Amino acid sequence: MCGISAYIGHREAYPIVINGLKRLEYRGYDSSGIMMYDGNKMIISKTKGKVSDLELITDEDEVRKVGNIGMGHTRWATHGVPNDVNSHPHYSQSGNLAIVHNGIIENYDTIKKELIARGYSFKSDTDTEVLINLIEEVKKTEGCKLGKAVQLALTNVVGAYAITVFDKEKPDEIVVARLGSPIAIGVGVENKEFFVASDASPFLEYTQNVIYLEDEEMAIIKLGRTVKVRRIHDDALVDPIIQKLQMSLDQIEKGGYEHFMLKEINEQPKAITDTFRGRMLLEENMIKMSSIEDNLDKFLNANRIIIIACGTSWHAGLVGEYLIEDMARIPVEVEYASEFRYRNPIITDKDIVIAISQSGETADTLAAIKLAKSKGAFVYGICNVVGSSIARETHTGAYTHAGPEIGVASTKAFTTQITVLTLIALKLGQANGSLPDYTFKKYIQKMQLIPRQIEQLLQIDEHVKSIADVYKNATNCLYLGRGFNFPVALEGALKLKEISYIHAEGYPAAEMKHGPIALIDENMPIFVIATNKGHYEKVVSNIQEIKSRAGKIIAIVTEGDTQVREIADHVIEIPETEEALTPLLTTIPFQLLSYHIAVMLGKNVDQPRNLAKSVTVE
Ligand code: F6R
Repeated sequence: MCGISAYIGHREAYPIVINGLKRLEYRGYDSSGIMMYDGNKMIISKTKGKVSDLELITDEDEVRKVGNIGMGHTRWATHGVPNDVNSHPHYSQSGNLAIVHNGIIENYDTIKKELIARGYSFKSDTDTEVLINLIEEVKKTEGCKLGKAVQLALTNVVGAYAITVFDKEKPDEIVVARLGSPIAIGVGVENKEFFVASDASPFLEYTQNVIYLEDEEMAIIKLGRTVKVRRIHDDALVDPIIQKLQMSLDQIEKGGYEHFMLKEINEQPKAITDTFRGRMLLEENMIKMSSIEDNLDKFLNANRIIIIACGTSWHAGLVGEYLIEDMARIPVEVEYASEFRYRNPIITDKDIVIAISQSGETADTLAAIKLAKSKGAFVYGICNVVGSSIARETHTGAYTHAGPEIGVASTKAFTTQITVLTLIALKLGQANGSLPDYTFKKYIQKMQLIPRQIEQLLQIDEHVKSIADVYKNATNCLYLGRGFNFPVALEGALKLKEISYIHAEGYPAAEMKHGPIALIDENMPIFVIATNKGHYEKVVSNIQEIKSRAGKIIAIVTEGDTQVREIADHVIEIPETEEALTPLLTTIPFQLLSYHIAVMLGKNVDQPRNLAKSVTVE
């Protein structure tokens, strides 16, 4: 959570930092701030609200925009409510040091009391202001430079951080450090300029050279010099690896769409095709995944697979459970990472853990991985963000290749996660003989058609929009599905909740009788997935039960369906495929529906309230 963007070099820093913050707003957007150094003094502007609100303040006073050094922050509040004072950057007591921080300092209260005893006073409620004053105190008492002071201060800190610190007494350098929150350093030509950000998107147009700091590393970035990286705790110098960026500018722009979410929904055919690339070999009748092939013995001899994830990725994990058990006959359990890490789970070296995360930074998933590894489990990651913490922490894994997902509500990440899980299930099923050859072949032939079928489905957008218009004022909705489509019902409900703030619940269709049925009346829209091969008759019975209680039925059916069409108030058809592959299709109308309802209600689709894309706090 929170986004950091900083610049030091020869250009005007303001537009670089501000545009960087805008690209990072997916990480948090309840308040924002900027520090500009004009060669003489530091000017800090900050406000509750978005980066666009911050721009309004700076526009009032052009002086605030001047200088070649700047750093900024877009916040997702942890300590202290979102208001102007708690917004970053924070100054030290002397006014010489400024900091932006992403993460939580857990022992801030103890440190704060010690600093108060030494005469410090605090303006904000934040842990960050405590940290910058601790750095100042260390610098004073040790008589050291900023880099050393940051290093010594951080050895006294418990928690997680990505920080950028500036000292006006040393205005040709900035110091950055990370533990648990990402930091990317963009390196300009001949070290004449540097960029710092929570991911590389803020500096894409300026440099392709990037250094990703590892946990417990800090860097001193000085104009004209190479970046000096050292480990915080043992002071060892580290040779920084400069990587070439794989991202392009058009991937992080809206490309003519009104919202990133709509763009990303529409990108799914391409995203899934990219996920297939090099893996789905139709002519050879095989799936190629070196991360599985190289560890095949481990997978085939595993006692069980435990899938850990949060939110939408957890829903993909549930689909994975159904797929792997069905196709490969290997026992699978799916757990919320946040529960798994704290419930003292039984894990052995015969278990395989699959961790799923779009961002690759989710704190609970990362901690659950570390726990599983410490117990000897083999950990496989399914991530979207290349080089992310989870991708690096896992033993091996597969990238989803969905491209940057910027809308806070996850769409293409979900379907590409399911795609990777389907490939894994098919690969393991073929390898251990659970899937007869003709079944495997049928699956990969049908799988190959999915991107085109999604394209076809996206054409019904106007129809979905008309349904959205009918139900946009509902206050409660129910989503029902069975088998492979039960997790899609959960995901459909989550999508609606998070961007339209309408209460929605997902349930296995048969569970409706055990409670939720009491909620049904003529005001309750119920979205039911009734595909032709998935317990169809049972779901039809569930639909009848809803009908007899006057609930409004919106059914997702397979094309050509006649039975449900007669009973339901609205139907949405998906193309014919194998039942195990239907989640990749049934999820699309739910995404569109949530999107249109949120737009019709005037909600901020890409940045829903209280949420952040990358949840780096537990
Ligand atoms: C919902 C959503 C979240 C994330 C969750 C996990 O649309 O995006 O529920 O799925 O925060 O995030 P990752 O996948 O980055 O670990």
